Amino acid sequence: MMEQHTEVTKPQTLDELIQILHKIFEGDEINVEEVQNIMESYESNPQEWVKYAKFDQYRYTRNLVDEGNGKFNLMILCWGEGHGSSIHDHTDSHCFMKLLQGQLKETLFEWPGGRAQGTMVQKSQRVLQENQCAYINDSIGLHRVENVSHTECAVSLHLYSPPFQQCQAFDQRTGHKNTVKMTFWSKYGERTPVEVVMCQENN
Ligand code: SIN
Repeated sequence: MMEQHTEVTKPQTLDELIQILHKIFEGDEINVEEVQNIMESYESNPQEWVKYAKFDQYRYTRNLVDEGNGKFNLMILCWGEGHGSSIHDHTDSHCFMKLLQGQLKETLFEWPGGRAQGTMVQKSQRVLQENQCAYINDSIGLHRVENVSHTECAVSLHLYSPPFQQCQAFDQRTGHKNTVKMTFWSKYGERTPVEVVMCQENN
């Protein structure tokens, strides 16, 4: 019997990866393995993504690369030494996360509630290496991502489909959650204007 292989078109550049992703997401069904394989097969070339890689001294940044014809958001996240995300969900979307540079630790957690009161239950932990592509959705669980290095920064490419602007962040000790608005540090290589919060005097 002939063995069945799924053909993977290897993208030669980031632009080619984006074109292929547009094609894949034209349809209504998402083949998770196909997207993961395509993203993994792109060999990271910093020259192609450096214009999006904008770092902040204090926390990781989210930099929009492409809006995927409304089907997905593709973004580059820049993690300085010791930067990490809070434990969060993915608002019923697919989340693909590919390492472009450095390493990131991903810790998976169970949803709080049920018998698991208090401290959140950790399911697994792994260190993602350059070019590797991870996948998560809400039925798999919650995760936190960290650059644990004290000397190296990390850069990752995230695809969320459908796109979302807010998610739930969880307190590891109590399992309590908060809705968090997600913003972009830059869009298409340009720094986004900083939101100014005006304080009003009440008198
Ligand atoms: C992450 O997966 O930890 C990054 C979350 C985000 O999109 O900000």
